Amino acid sequence: MQTHEIRKRFLDHFVQAGHTEVPSASVLLDDPNLLFVNAGMVQFVPYFLGQRTPPWNKATSVQKCIRTPDIDEVGITTRHNTFFQMAGNFSFGDYFKQGAIELAWSLLTNPVSDGGYGMDPEKLWATVYYDDDEAVELWQRVAGLPTERIQRRGMADNYWSMGIPGPCGPSSEIYYDRGPEYGVEGGPEANEDRYIEIWNLVFMQNERGEGTSKDDYEILGPLPRKNIDTGMGVERVACLLQGVDNVYETDLLRPVIDVVAARAPRGYGRGSHVDDVRYRIIADHSRTAAIIIGDGVTPGNEGRGYVLRRLLRRIIRAAKLLGVDDPIMAELMVTVRDAMGPSYPELVSDFDRIRRIAVAEETAFNRTLVAGSRLFDDAAESTRKAGKTVLSGTDAFTLHDTYGFPIDLTLEMAAEAGLSVDELGFRELMSEQRRRAKADAAARKHAHADLSAYRELVDAGPTEFTGFDELTSEAKILGIFVDGRRVPVAAHQPRVGGESAAPQRVEIVVDRTPLYAESGGQIADVGSISGHGGTARAAVTDVQKIARTLFVHSVNVESGEFVEGDTVSVAVDPSWRHGATQGHSGTHMVHAALRQVLGPNAVQAGSLNRPGYLRFDFNWQGALTEEQRAEIELVTNEAVEADHEVHTFHTELDKAKSMGAMALFGEAYPDEVRVVEIGGPFSLELCGGTHVRSSAQIGPVTILGESSVGSGVRRVEAYVGLDSFKHLAKERALLAGLASSLKVPSEEVPARVGQLVDRLKVAEREIERMRLATARAAAANAAAGAEVVGKVRLVAQRMSAGMTAGDLRSLVGDIRGSLGTDPAVVALIAEGDNASVPYVVAANPAAVDLGLRANDLVKTLSAAVDGRGGGKVDLAQGSGKNPGGIDAALDALRGEVART
Ligand code: ALA
Repeated sequence: MQTHEIRKRFLDHFVQAGHTEVPSASVLLDDPNLLFVNAGMVQFVPYFLGQRTPPWNKATSVQKCIRTPDIDEVGITTRHNTFFQMAGNFSFGDYFKQGAIELAWSLLTNPVSDGGYGMDPEKLWATVYYDDDEAVELWQRVAGLPTERIQRRGMADNYWSMGIPGPCGPSSEIYYDRGPEYGVEGGPEANEDRYIEIWNLVFMQNERGEGTSKDDYEILGPLPRKNIDTGMGVERVACLLQGVDNVYETDLLRPVIDVVAARAPRGYGRGSHVDDVRYRIIADHSRTAAIIIGDGVTPGNEGRGYVLRRLLRRIIRAAKLLGVDDPIMAELMVTVRDAMGPSYPELVSDFDRIRRIAVAEETAFNRTLVAGSRLFDDAAESTRKAGKTVLSGTDAFTLHDTYGFPIDLTLEMAAEAGLSVDELGFRELMSEQRRRAKADAAARKHAHADLSAYRELVDAGPTEFTGFDELTSEAKILGIFVDGRRVPVAAHQPRVGGESAAPQRVEIVVDRTPLYAESGGQIADVGSISGHGGTARAAVTDVQKIARTLFVHSVNVESGEFVEGDTVSVAVDPSWRHGATQGHSGTHMVHAALRQVLGPNAVQAGSLNRPGYLRFDFNWQGALTEEQRAEIELVTNEAVEADHEVHTFHTELDKAKSMGAMALFGEAYPDEVRVVEIGGPFSLELCGGTHVRSSAQIGPVTILGESSVGSGVRRVEAYVGLDSFKHLAKERALLAGLASSLKVPSEEVPARVGQLVDRLKVAEREIERMRLATARAAAANAAAGAEVVGKVRLVAQRMSAGMTAGDLRSLVGDIRGSLGTDPAVVALIAEGDNASVPYVVAANPAAVDLGLRANDLVKTLSAAVDGRGGGKVDLAQGSGKNPGGIDAALDALRGEVART
């Protein structure tokens, strides 16, 4: 049975049983603790926790999931995927254990002709949490499982949570026995390669707190209702139903293996386990990379971007180790698209962008590989020269750290070069680096990272944002925090004994606020909170959201005191807000203009706006031309000038998308979204930000420049409103200044500068010509002043100050040439720039025969001017630090020559 069919049967089965089908969420959900969505239930967390009322009691989905902690297992075991599809059914306070077991059992064992998977009940096993007698009884009664095929296991195996605080509960897992050829008997307890876990039923009933491992965390208490959360591994079921050995050979992954095998000298399944693992890594990672890029991640050096980069690089490395040296990424992406497209249409509609990003990383990594290979060759060479056979851990670490060489690539290359690698040394350096990184991360961790202090307020419900309609709101203080601790009061600290106390910096949470919390690229509003008839005042410097719903105001208490429960007045700084709306609306305008000029491939990759300024990142290959930049600016300003009305409304997500509203990749949008429309179809975006009322209020938009921010991502920056005007005014003043120094009207400045540049060139050529002429004259003079010392014609002279070593070298040659073939020595020395003393000595062949070698004579000069020098027998040079020794140097040289 094909994977798409397995998926469809799952959804149909649960829809028939009254569940609502919910589409997969993006793999990026806005939770700072979770890099990627790792289970089907993640998008439903607020329902389980009782923070939001679910719109349905029963739901089903097939969720895109990413799990990378086991990345090293990929390809080695038969069942680990970094991307997999988790099919799930969810009950929010509806059915519980019995319903979950019945529904799972019937889908697995119903005949194929009846919509099921037709599995042989005799091959199925179940595990339960060790004290869950109820589940044991249900498996016997509902499924007819004999007790020997039901195993009890502990918390690490049969108690499920997301790995972070959130909903949790005991679970029961269903396993399929693949038969004795896959390992020993004894159920999942004995062997998880023979007994494959296919479905996890979680009886979600508690909330967990912080903890360090799978079986060590605090249970905070029961959830408001008993729920069901299940996850069936679609790939694993496919593996069993398709009768293949491992998940990488199922219908959606195998085509990638085949594409690589067609290019590689050694095929798949030819007896080399190491090679086969590499094929499987490529198949697994290609798919994961396409999905992650599809949801909006670009390769980078931290967080999600780093995971993506690592996946892409592991693909390229595995391909190289299989002997595929030519670029292969484009073909891999095409194969993934064709296999996965039917279930994930975004891989088709967004394919150009996905391929472009993956290929750009391949190109960049290949360049690094070339540079790294050079370093490797050098390191190998010096290892051998030193008579050693072990490449140092430091070299391996540099290759890893600077060139992204994974250790096994270095090992492989070393083996080819007949060397081994000090792996222990390498690992020590790696763990040292990891320790450093951890310490850094811990130091950076903001107090907000520990959310527990705010949890009570988060649970009490979201902060009401009043700022779309008013700039000042009356509100009640719900909580005050200092350094992440809740306190009842925050008071201004008066000066004590002449010392000014540090301002009281606290965080205040109120029930409603007009202050915008940083999000969607718009930075937080500034403003004030005041109470007690104005005697208490605090300046708000930042507003951040916690758990997406709670607005936390960072404030400096400037006077009086604030007490939890106080009624206060919360106000936005109106001129700040005006600037912020200009910045944010300006961003939408530039985005729209950019797409009008560049086309739909210019997809937003991020943005930031604050009063007066905006920056906008987008996916695009190569720099914009000057014409494109100018046109984007013109289109933007024309749309500003048209004074379009800014219209905001709420609608369903699907409806907004079908209207063509642009959503940012990777953002999790609720079912009902806010749409900001400027100028009808000109700009339509999903956005929660604050905006101007009509586009003319944005004022002029001036694009400052366009630059690259990583491979395939460009950035435009612009000023808006008064800042834009100020920028233009500054440029105008600059031009006026230039015009006045050049004494021409402004419009003639370019022509005048052009003329000046031309004249400068002519003058420079003239100076060069004169320099040469002077030098030649100096050479002739010097030659004429040759003394006869012993048997030698000697020119030993101090040249004019400011001459460089280069000048002296060219003169010395000329002079020596004019002295004929009898023994001749030329030594020139000058007082150069910065108290340097350059000198050059030349000896002709007859002088060398007399034992006068330039490289010896230069040492005589060096000694007197505190210098260093060297060269060949016929020409040598040096540089000293003591101009006072020049005469003595020349005398010493004469003395040396006189001895011949
Ligand atoms: N949430 C459960 C899991 O991921 C079903 O295994």
